[in-house]
Amino acid sequence: MLELQNIGKQFNQKIVLEDINFEIESGEIVSLLGPSGSGKTTLLHIILGLTKMDQGRIIFNGKDLSHVSMKNRGFNIVFQDYALFPHLNAYDNIVYGLKNKRGLISEKEIREYIEFLELKPHLTKKIGELSGGQKQRVALARTLVMKPKLLLLDEPLSALDGVIKESIKERIQSIAREFKLTTIIVTHDPEEALTLSDKILIIQNGGISQFGTPQQIIHQPSNDFVKEFILKQLHIKRQNIYHLFGEKYA
Ligand SMILES: Nc1ncnc2c1ncn2[C@@H]1O[C@H](COP(=O)(O)OP(=O)(O)OP(=O)(O)O)[C@@H](O)[C@H]1O
Ligand SMILES: [Mg+2]
Repeated sequence: MLELQNIGKQFNQKIVLEDINFEIESGEIVSLLGPSGSGKTTLLHIILGLTKMDQGRIIFNGKDLSHVSMKNRGFNIVFQDYALFPHLNAYDNIVYGLKNKRGLISEKEIREYIEFLELKPHLTKKIGELSGGQKQRVALARTLVMKPKLLLLDEPLSALDGVIKESIKERIQSIAREFKLTTIIVTHDPEEALTLSDKILIIQNGGISQFGTPQQIIHQPSNDFVKEFILKQLHIKRQNIYHLFGEKYA
């Protein structure tokens, strides 16, 4: 279980996150949802250990990680821009982080992730020769082979569209389920959050607007911001999320 207690962060005397409290159960998929500039990436980087928080505590499976370095937390992230190495081929990108950690994972397991993400035909290609969806899968594979205790994804679907987006979305879900991997996904798209996650944390101006299941967010929005931000989008994409809404909004 991951617990965040009273997390606060300022940049240049400006409050970016304030009084963030929530808990995530093991194996859950949680979305951090909010508009641009609301503090989602900052919160993800604080959990990762990349950005220092000014106050608060991060507890993981009972252990206080607040002052533990990024390396020793054992979490891993897929950055929004993938951050792949253009001069290396897909396979070398995937195993790059294992350079000094060969004992971490067997060659067989690496192959399993590659098969699972359908990357076998692309392993010798340079990054520049891959499509957006293929790059995204390489970035996912590279993160998964590090056997993270917590998977963090920053806008993993925003550069993708249509069928590719759906397929990566399903893959993220099946990774989380199959490998029982607690997963936190940043998104600014309510439909993505509603269809992908077990729980949604809605952030507005650095504070939590609501934390709940998709059903709770839809049927019991806690304030006008949630109503505006989430429910307005229903009209645009209601078919995709029909099962969550039932008759009332159909
Ligand atoms: N390194 C930094 N130095 C100063 N200010 C920063 C820094 N990183 C983020 N900020 C500010 O903190 C606020 C939150 O930024 P953050 O990147 O967390 O937002 P976000 O919700 O991820 O937005 P987006 O959806 O656009 O990615 C913004 O006002 C941003 O300008
Ligand atoms: Mg961001």
